[in-house]
Amino acid sequence: MTRHVFSFPRYLGVGLFGLMIGQACLQAQAQTMPIDSSSSSALPPGIERSAFGQLANGREVDCYRITNDNGIEMRVINYGGIIVSLKTPDLQGQMDDIVLGFDSLDDYLSDAYRRANPYFGALIGRYGNRIANGRFSLDGETYQLPTNDGPNTLHGGDVGFNQRLWHAEPFSSSEGRGLVLTYTSEDGEEGFPGRLSARVSYTLTNDNELAIDYRAKTSRATPVNLTQHSYFNLQGEGHGSILNHELTINASGFTPVNETLIPTGEIADVSGTPFDFRRPTAIGARMGEKNTQLAYGKGYDHNFVLSKNPGAAGHLALAARVTEPQSGRVLEVSTTEPGLQFYSGNFLDGSLTGKSGRAYTHRSGLALETQHFPDSPNQSNFPSTILKPDETYHSRTVYRFSTTQSEGQSRSTQPHSS
Ligand code: GLA
Repeated sequence: MTRHVFSFPRYLGVGLFGLMIGQACLQAQAQTMPIDSSSSSALPPGIERSAFGQLANGREVDCYRITNDNGIEMRVINYGGIIVSLKTPDLQGQMDDIVLGFDSLDDYLSDAYRRANPYFGALIGRYGNRIANGRFSLDGETYQLPTNDGPNTLHGGDVGFNQRLWHAEPFSSSEGRGLVLTYTSEDGEEGFPGRLSARVSYTLTNDNELAIDYRAKTSRATPVNLTQHSYFNLQGEGHGSILNHELTINASGFTPVNETLIPTGEIADVSGTPFDFRRPTAIGARMGEKNTQLAYGKGYDHNFVLSKNPGAAGHLALAARVTEPQSGRVLEVSTTEPGLQFYSGNFLDGSLTGKSGRAYTHRSGLALETQHFPDSPNQSNFPSTILKPDETYHSRTVYRFSTTQSEGQSRSTQPHSS
């Protein structure tokens, strides 16, 4: 976890400001309106807001459409910070929506969706991935979290950050256009200690990147592991499986798991296994191999230990690259995080129908979740996920969209210090 000096009073200010603005947003009826009623400033150019629906408690959910100068367009809702759509060009310049999701809030709230629990496009917290038996000890106390994935806690518990209404503030900066999302998780929420103020920004740049900065402060020591759970299909959402996508992961190790997907504690060498993605390999190429780890995951659902340059902790490094041969779309993921969960959509079973009316069938999307390792609070040999009150959590991940043609011409992902 990288921690940068960060002015807490200013942060608190944003939180309080957020609460006030949240009230203003609740009264919003118009499709597009000034976001900041206190200063009457209009939405920045390239950002539009519309109503997306209403939660059971009556609170309104907004949808922000953000475009960059090259026509890349993403839509984000403040419920769960969910990226509901993301349109990028293929080799011919045709724009397609490359993430799985829905066009209506009801679809994200439906029983079918809750049963499937795929976390489409959502922000994940407080703790992305699993904590064994939903239990950990910290500073002499044992904490029991709700278990929602067999015996374990997955993605923050019963009501994780993916199901919270965030305060959203659109912005335009020299880096790009985006949205700052803030949410305060009260002390004891979902069993976690400490009042955690989380602030996540999505920035869509004119270099065709989506940069995500995760920040948090806590009032008491607590585990934090924030991530984003978009499912990509570079052929376009609803267009079949991702098995033909070619994946490179910059990792020579991974963390093998037990039957309930909790790491054994070992960091295994990927050499000679279906987990060796150091060279571009079709995702489906080795999926059928007889392999205990693939059997436990029902495919790929594993944390990769990213290879970084020595001393590069806290700096962006290229973690993964995905290429889809037909469309020519390329996705690159860079992160400051030490791990990457590659999940091949093994639990998708066709029971959910997406935006364009097509069913999300088995392995029709892949997730690349940048993170600290699963179950770190119980694994002393893994990098720590404990955030202390005098520290600021900051992690950055950049998704970069290009095509096999444009790739050579444009700049490569640059390390970015913040
Ligand atoms: C993560 C987990 C998977 C699965 C998905 C959501 O990627 O590792 O096992 O739970 O979330 O379906």
